[in-house]
Order: sequence, then structure tokens, then C-alpha cells
Amino acid sequence: PSKESQDVLQAFEWLTKLYHHLLRHSKDGKEGYHYLKERGFSDETIDTFQLGFSPKSKTFIMQFLEKKGFHPQSMVKAGVLTTTSDNEVVDRFQGRIIYPIKNHLGKPIAYGGRTISDQSPKYLNSPETELFQKGRLLYNFDLARSHIRKEGKVVLFEGYMDVISAYQAGIKNSVATLGTSITETQAKLLRRYVESVVICYDSDQAGILASYKAAKLLRKTGCNVSVAKMEDGMDPDDYIKKYGPEKFTKDVIAVSDTYMAFIMRYLKKDYNLNLEGDRIQYVENVLDEIALLDRPVEREHFLKELANEFELSVQTLSQEIRSRRAMTG
Ligand code: UTP
Ligand code: MN
Ligand code: MN
Ligand code: MN
Ligand code: MN
Repeated sequence: PSKESQDVLQAFEWLTKLYHHLLRHSKDGKEGYHYLKERGFSDETIDTFQLGFSPKSKTFIMQFLEKKGFHPQSMVKAGVLTTTSDNEVVDRFQGRIIYPIKNHLGKPIAYGGRTISDQSPKYLNSPETELFQKGRLLYNFDLARSHIRKEGKVVLFEGYMDVISAYQAGIKNSVATLGTSITETQAKLLRRYVESVVICYDSDQAGILASYKAAKLLRKTGCNVSVAKMEDGMDPDDYIKKYGPEKFTKDVIAVSDTYMAFIMRYLKKDYNLNLEGDRIQYVENVLDEIALLDRPVEREHFLKELANEFELSVQTLSQEIRSRRAMTG
């Protein structure tokens, strides 16, 4: 890292401790602390993730940084201070819960800031910097890495709260893509450590579409993918809070759909299978996907399933698969 990045790392080291201290032990941080308690997070969890609070003050953080010898302009660039429309430099995360985002060595390099009222945006994140590129990093990878190795499996979430909830529930092989759909860099990073990935995104329209894209990309990267499902509208944190960790592990993670089962379910939603034309198109789409599977057993399994469902002969479908595979080599 450049000299400038070294300074920023140093500033983030101090700031992470300050935000955390303010949340845990100060009058200014009480609202933040109570918010997290209300949502069911223990002191131990709050400490593990070094969650913090930025006081409702324009300059509290700036003054601290100045006392430590950091230049306001470099801290604006690092994204912890911000310039208002009146050209005034102020604290960026005023009144927000702070989620330190750490690199894979466990050093904080960015923050997510959640409102505790109904301000927009809900999460204000650090801007991209030399140190922080959102698409190259997975939230919680530093703590999850050894658990991912041990379990031979990683659970992939959308959000901070999902990872923290899962971790508190004992599912420690958990990381998040921070809302964005997964990038190729993130997929490759995961693949270096593990083959099996359980995608556990929010059960809303955006989450389901993102699951589809992630499933395809991770498979292409050589992962063994499965996709968890929950009641409509819920996210993993909601589910754990409502039904508890045991049920989440048993009824969501352990029974996640295989890649093809998910793809079949996903493609179905675009068709009205009572219509002949739609049925044919759906079958064609599923055949395309089956043809891409590497293992003959897997191909046969889903082919039979498809044949049964649509009363087609296994022979015809096998022929379709063979010609598709011949074309792609
Ligand atoms: P969600 O809206 O699902 O938030 O966004 P969440 O994680 O469930 O958080 P709670 O439970 O409402 O507190 C998923 C992720 O997308 C990113 C964040 O990383 C968030 O965790 N996001 C979302 C943003 O960066 N900005 C936003 O305004 C919203
Ligand atoms: Mn602490
Ligand atoms: Mn969502
Ligand atoms: Mn969510
Ligand atoms: Mn949530």
C-alpha cells in the first residue's frame, strides 16, 4: 500500500475502536446500542464484529481525527468525512450504526453505516478507495475463513445483518457480498478455499434474481452450488429471529435446493405451464441447463424428472441432450 493508504489504515484502526467504544460505553452511543439489543444481538456479538456508533454530531469524528494528526481532506478521500453542499467538511456517518468492513487480514478498510431512524439510504457505505473495492471483498471473510475450510462449505448472504445473525446462531462459515450480486473476483476467491457454496439471499424479487445470477456464476467457477429458500419476503436474519437457529439450520440450510432443482423452480415462474407453447419453451430451457451438467448421473436424474413431469419419453429427451452436448463439445 502507498504511504497514503498506510495512513488511512492507521486512521481506520483508531476509528474502529472509537466507534465501538462509543456504542458500548458512551451516552452518545446508547441509541445505537439499544437498537442492536432490540434486534437481538449479544454484547459478545457486538464485540466480535466491533460494531460501533457515530454520534449525532457534525464534527465529533473530525475533531478526533484532527487530534490524532490526520488531515481532513485525506479523511474525506478515505470516506469517513464528507463535504456538504455548502462546502463544509463534516462527519459522514452521523447518527448511524457502524459496521467495520475488514479486509482478509482483518484490518478495517471501510464502513457500512445503518440508520436507526428511517433515513435514506438505509445503509450508507464507504466510497471505493485504493484500499476498498467492494467487488473484490467478501464481508466477514477474515473470521469465516477457518470455518469455511473446516466445514468444507460456505454460506453466502446478502447483508451485514444476515452474516452477524448467522454467526451468532453458530453458523460461522458465513460471508456476504454486501448487496451487490456476486462478482467473478468474489466467486474465484471463494473457489480457492471451498467447493460447496450455499446461496442464502433474501427471499424477495431482487434476492431471487440475484440467487439465479450467483448460482450460474459460481457454477461456472467450478463450485458445487445449492440455494436455500425461505418464506416470501423474509431474509435470513428475519428467519433466525422468528424461528431460531436450529430451525434455520435444519429447515433452510440443510435442505437447500440443488443447483438444478433451483434452476427448474426458477425458470418455472416465467411460464404458464398450462399453455402448450410455454411448456415446450420451459422444457427446452431446462434441457439447455441439464446439458451443461458434468456428471452423467445428474443429467439422468433431472432428465427423468423432466420426462415424468411432462409425460415425455426419456429417449427423446436423451437425444436432445446428446445433440446439445455435441454442439458445445
Ligand atoms: P437489505 O435491504 O436486505 O438490508 O440489503 P439488511 O441486510 O436486511 O439489513 P436490515 O436487516 O434491514 O438492517 C442487503 C445489503 O445490501 C446493502 C447492505 O450491504 C445490506 O446489508 N445495502 C442495502 C446498501 O449498501 N445500501 C442500502 O441502502 C441498502
Ligand atoms: Mn469491545
Ligand atoms: Mn433485500
Ligand atoms: Mn435483507
Ligand atoms: Mn434484514
